[in-house]
Amino acid sequence: MAADVDQRGTDGGSRSAPQDELRAPGAGSWMSRGTWSLLLVAAVPLLAFGIRSYQDAQLARRHEESVRTLGPEGVLLFSSLDSDQDCFLSPEEFRPIAQRLTGVTAPADPEEDLVHDPDGETLTVEAHMQPLLLDSMTKSRDGFLGVSHSSLSGLRSWRSPAVPSSSFPASRFRAFLPPGSGLAVGDTWWLIPSELSVFTGYLPNNRYHPPPPRGKEVLIHALLSMLHPRPFVKSRFAPQGAVACLRAASDAYYDIVFRIHAEFQLNEVPDFPFWFTPGQFTGNIVLSRDASHVRHFHLYVPNDRSLNVDMEWLYGASESSNMEVDIGYLPQMELRSSGPSLPSVITDERGDVVDVRDAAEPVHFVFEDIVWSAELSRQEAARRLELALYPFKKVSYLPFSQAFQRAEAEKKLVHSILLWGALDDQSCSGRTLRETVLESSPVLTLLNQSFISSWSLVRELEGLQADEQNPALAEKASLHLADYTFPVEMMVALPNGTILHHINANVFLDQTAMRPEDEASFSFSAGFEDPSTSTYIRFLREGLERARAHRTPPE
Ligand SMILES: *[C@@H]1O[C@H](CO)[C@@H](O)[C@H](O)[C@H]1NC(C)=O
Ligand SMILES: *[C@@H]1O[C@H](CO)[C@@H](O)[C@H](O)[C@H]1NC(C)=O
Repeated sequence: MAADVDQRGTDGGSRSAPQDELRAPGAGSWMSRGTWSLLLVAAVPLLAFGIRSYQDAQLARRHEESVRTLGPEGVLLFSSLDSDQDCFLSPEEFRPIAQRLTGVTAPADPEEDLVHDPDGETLTVEAHMQPLLLDSMTKSRDGFLGVSHSSLSGLRSWRSPAVPSSSFPASRFRAFLPPGSGLAVGDTWWLIPSELSVFTGYLPNNRYHPPPPRGKEVLIHALLSMLHPRPFVKSRFAPQGAVACLRAASDAYYDIVFRIHAEFQLNEVPDFPFWFTPGQFTGNIVLSRDASHVRHFHLYVPNDRSLNVDMEWLYGASESSNMEVDIGYLPQMELRSSGPSLPSVITDERGDVVDVRDAAEPVHFVFEDIVWSAELSRQEAARRLELALYPFKKVSYLPFSQAFQRAEAEKKLVHSILLWGALDDQSCSGRTLRETVLESSPVLTLLNQSFISSWSLVRELEGLQADEQNPALAEKASLHLADYTFPVEMMVALPNGTILHHINANVFLDQTAMRPEDEASFSFSAGFEDPSTSTYIRFLREGLERARAHRTPPE
């Protein structure tokens, strides 16, 4: 149960404590100056120690009081909100709860309403999409039997972008700039930090309209609104928010790669909400360091997997209503700048200011080439964004065929996860697993030591199984599929494909389901290991044990 505070970026940059200048009055000789500073050196830690122990005692007293008032479970909830751990909740710390209870978000951040320079440059962004392929949905196999027409009405009618083309002041794209000036090429930061934690839980499903965006959300919201009028910049489920990575830098420019986990709600009253959640939005922006000029902007939903959108719709207006789930394929959804941002006024040879739109002849702009002084590959930047969003990826997950080759070479076992929907996008099947066991450090350590990890979609292995060109791989895929049950199966296999051990994710979750009283006690006991982590470790160890038995065949 890692608090999601750990994942937050260093928004705002680092702040160093002001160094008080220590001056010795009348310090003339070397001797007196030395003595004086010695005294100071001694006194400062003592003073600090005194203040600290007084504060510690006060905190301990407040903590005792809060346990008496709230009980251990209440304190756990309270401390999850109290991010500075001072035993008081500031309005900012209370915000997630207020939003959850009232459903109302504070008014938009006034900072974002800054007046933009009317003479600044303007960027034109164009939206393109091809609708979701309805026949890629599982429910299409029986002709959407039992799915009411109204459920899918928002999906069926969404055939094109809401706003095909739109102009933005270039300076608004400063939202993408790195916070502070201390970031180097390769560093990542949160554009929009996640606000989900174990205690705020998931955001409600029964909403139609996005909350008013704040801060940097305002621009992302405006961009996504070109695709559909109801973008939710913050997804209901983790991983939530948006991260960025500084891919390249020159004297004057940055290339910033980003990844956004947002979703759309497609239905309107009286139909019940329908959530359309692409695996991710990614892309990059090349802009000047002062954000006065944007050279290039591209935002898109990757379409290189067989399924890339998760969909969930309600059969009733309340939170507890039944929800239907499906996955589908979206061939294209993207926003692209039509060219670099352009000024609306220029100064001509005579020094006169000319409005480009009124110029007698069309104005041709010539842009300098950008020469990066430091850069990463696009792939490496994507990997860093992934690590920022998914700590479980600290262990690499290889494609199916590579995993077996590597396991063979390194004499390790294959730890394989077979799913209906993808593990590293927002699809629901992998969500629970990812947020718990696969991120816990004992599991990461064991996987790193003794296993080569891989995850695959059922659909992909069905393809491999049918591949006559590669019988060895086809056999491995078919052994995997033989032991698969919906929705997610975790497996341990020998490098030759034999499955040593496997467990279904639902069975696993049932085994590790916690009663609330357990939850309170394990969190406070020293050296706790939560039950799902220890169960997963037992599962992996059992696999290792069975492999040993294979290596020493019975006499
Ligand atoms: C995995 O193991 C390698 C070397 O054995 C080590 O450098 C790396 O930090 C480990 N990673 C994790 C996530 O434990
Ligand atoms: C893999 O190897 C083990 C022994 O090392 C053997 O028992 C098993 O039958 C093999 N499986 C396949 C699919 O060849």
